[in-house]
Amino acid sequence: TDMFTYDPGFTSTASCRSAITYIDGEQGILLHRGYPIDQLADKSSFMEVAALLLHGELPNKEELDKFTYTISRHTMLHEQLATFFRGFRRDAHPMAIMCGVVGALSSFYHDSTDITDPKQREIASHRLIAKMPTIAAMAYKYSIGQPFLYPDNSLSYTGNFLRMTFGVPAEDYVVNPIIEKAMDRIFILHADHEQNASTSTVRLAGSSGANPFACIAAGIACLWGPAHGGANEAALNMLREIGHVDRIPEYIARAKDKDDPFRLMGFGHRVYKNFDPRAKVMKETADEVLRELNISDPVLDVAKELERIALSDSYFIDKKLYPNVDFYSGVILNAIGFPTEMFTALFALARTVGWVAQWNEMIADPEQKIGRPRQLYTGATQRDYVGVNAR
Ligand code: CMC
Repeated sequence: TDMFTYDPGFTSTASCRSAITYIDGEQGILLHRGYPIDQLADKSSFMEVAALLLHGELPNKEELDKFTYTISRHTMLHEQLATFFRGFRRDAHPMAIMCGVVGALSSFYHDSTDITDPKQREIASHRLIAKMPTIAAMAYKYSIGQPFLYPDNSLSYTGNFLRMTFGVPAEDYVVNPIIEKAMDRIFILHADHEQNASTSTVRLAGSSGANPFACIAAGIACLWGPAHGGANEAALNMLREIGHVDRIPEYIARAKDKDDPFRLMGFGHRVYKNFDPRAKVMKETADEVLRELNISDPVLDVAKELERIALSDSYFIDKKLYPNVDFYSGVILNAIGFPTEMFTALFALARTVGWVAQWNEMIADPEQKIGRPRQLYTGATQRDYVGVNAR
């Protein structure tokens, strides 16, 4: 069994060739199809980034309009799914609902999904990208007991999502352009991140030829964990628990204590060892949004001070631990009015674009094989069976 490379956590294994996203962890560089994340976050839109990730090039105006229109044509859910939602407890975590509902989509689109046909793959991709906002908004509405809102395709992708989330049938909902822009930027910052745990999960699930909706449900399950996408929820809960800058040293001490399992949530990254370029944009956006909405939130002050103290502490410096994308996103989402339970669902919504782009790339790759890691066996050597009465 020694002939296999032992690499727990795959810290040094390239599982595929990919032309989608490039990360240089030492220098804090993140490129999508060659374009730096800060330029995309600043200048483009989530739909543009989605088209870029899927197709490899930035769309021209006509292509972008066509892509946006196509996505908007798929925003509705099969009416039967409303009944499916009602099977969940009202206090179900939105990620539990997302796993279930996205997995259930495979039963609606099973026969139509011949994944060897690029056209079929494209339709499945469009459906997934289009339906995620509807599903996420419905999960939220269900939890607060408000009626589901149907999509409004006259709005932008992000504007429609905000309306389905915060609108009510009794009133017109006016999309606040500041919030729409911030939300769109958060989606861009989460769109893809090469072979992270959830994307690798989607690829592994997809490598067997499984239904794409089921594969994305697997990705959602993986994203949920607090070491991955669940960190945004955990980070804001932590900032709230700290509550005041005076209590920061206590939490820093706990994070450094080997005997205490507590970690600073939203801190550290497997690949980034200098800074997370997404965190930088996120911090600026948090400042901007709170200023423009005229909100002063003590949670932002705690976050900034925590970052300052941690980054001047030798423990964090030596271990190269920096704020990651999840550290400041919660502050913005909180200001917009999302409950913490929804944070990871928003991450899943945005990451769906990356998941489907990576899934498509994998299926189209002639070198693609079923994912099948080996192991170093540490169990008993061969022995003979003994009947239960003789044991
Ligand atoms: N607070 C305190 N200590 C930490 C932290 C932290 N947030 N992160 C890592 N360390 C320590 C860890 O205890 C270990 O120390 P030692 O070498 O003495 O045992 C060392 O740093 C290396 O940590 P690791 O767990 O071996 O590193 P990893 O690459 O396996 O884990 C991580 C990366 C992101 C899971 C980890 O840093 C972590 O748990 N962070 C908190 C959760 C978080 O914010 N996750 C979001 C990741 S970014 C985007 C996303 O996926 O959502």
